[in-house]
Amino acid sequence: MKTCRICDHKIEPFMSFGKMPIANGFLNKSEFEKEYFFEMKVSFCENCYMFQLDEQPDATMMFHENYAFFSSLSKYMQKHFKSFAHFVMELIPLPEKNSFVIELGSNDGIMLEHFKNANYRHLGIEPSSNVAKVALEKGINTLSNFFDLNLANEIYNEHGLADAIICANVMCHIPNLNDIAKGIARLLKPNGLLIFEDPYLGDMVKKVSYDQIYDEHVFIFSAHSVAKAFGTSGLELVDLIPQTTHGGSMRYVLAHKGSHKASKSVIQILEEEKSLGLNKIETFNKFKLNCEASRDSLRELLEGIRIKGETVVGYGATSKSTTVLNYCNLNTDHICYISDTTPIKQNKYTPGMHIPVKSYDFFKSDVPKYVLLFAWNHSDEIFEKESKFSEQGGRWIRFVPRVEII
Ligand code: TYD
Repeated sequence: MKTCRICDHKIEPFMSFGKMPIANGFLNKSEFEKEYFFEMKVSFCENCYMFQLDEQPDATMMFHENYAFFSSLSKYMQKHFKSFAHFVMELIPLPEKNSFVIELGSNDGIMLEHFKNANYRHLGIEPSSNVAKVALEKGINTLSNFFDLNLANEIYNEHGLADAIICANVMCHIPNLNDIAKGIARLLKPNGLLIFEDPYLGDMVKKVSYDQIYDEHVFIFSAHSVAKAFGTSGLELVDLIPQTTHGGSMRYVLAHKGSHKASKSVIQILEEEKSLGLNKIETFNKFKLNCEASRDSLRELLEGIRIKGETVVGYGATSKSTTVLNYCNLNTDHICYISDTTPIKQNKYTPGMHIPVKSYDFFKSDVPKYVLLFAWNHSDEIFEKESKFSEQGGRWIRFVPRVEII
């Protein structure tokens, strides 16, 4: 029997998604043979409420010089990170007092550049060297390294304590969360704030958006699990702000215990989580059945289209799509190619199922009848951009919050 990554309580996986490759491991034909796979099983800890991956591939296999994710490519995310930065600046509004902001997983500097422009002292920590390089080229102070307690001590020695430690879509990637929490508590001023956001377990359970589960997301957090995980390092929740990004996220604000008064939304969201059962294993046994039903109906729908001889193209070679394609066993019989605007993914193949990834220009020159929306978290932006496709009789297929043709 395994033990919980946070509290060491005995846990057992409640579900397996089967054999999975690296979600962002877009590859060339010559790399098919040596592709890495692991069995993706998930557990829920009844003691500290943490939803977690049973096994996670080594970090260096996921985050490296060819990491295929550049935050700044999405206009919507650019806007979101700007508003996140301003939210933080309102909480620590005194750059003239030499306020210091640290971002974990600062990617290409999409968020820190707002702090740089407002003259905050800032430091980004970004393990993927290719994206860190882009940030450095923009003049954003960045260390290409993995954050842990040792690095926290080094940063403390060089820069002192931070007013805010922030991160977006990063905390849920970090397996040694206890160590990170200690490092954060070590680096935060007595009245400092930890502010982070990640895909939210409540949304995932409600929408059956199981595609949030992939190698990088070792945890899917709730307010319950975050309170427990950071509580042992002396931090507590002081605010919770739901977000629409990534198909439903939560922004968590934490501080040293007793240093800040908690907002009403902390109690309210903890209560909502209890009603939704995010503190009970039964909820996840039901979630498993919902995932299986979603998988079966998506397969059935795509099989039906295939039998009719019609073609389906995927929209957005997201990390999430790797879970959907491999779990539902969808290959080029079902999806001829996936259109994606990220240059590093184009002309490669999707992890595991090896569906070709083509450029958006190719998609525009070859408009299909059916488009499967893998980037469903960007629906508004995409539907607006592709209004002609629908007007000309094109049909969207989606699988969140339910499998349907629209
Ligand atoms: P993202 O939303 O970050 O999802 P994940 O975290 O699961 O990777 O990825 C969006 C992907 O979709 C990215 O590869 C870019 C692509 N995309 C398009 O191709 N066209 C679009 O209009 C949008 C919004 C995204």
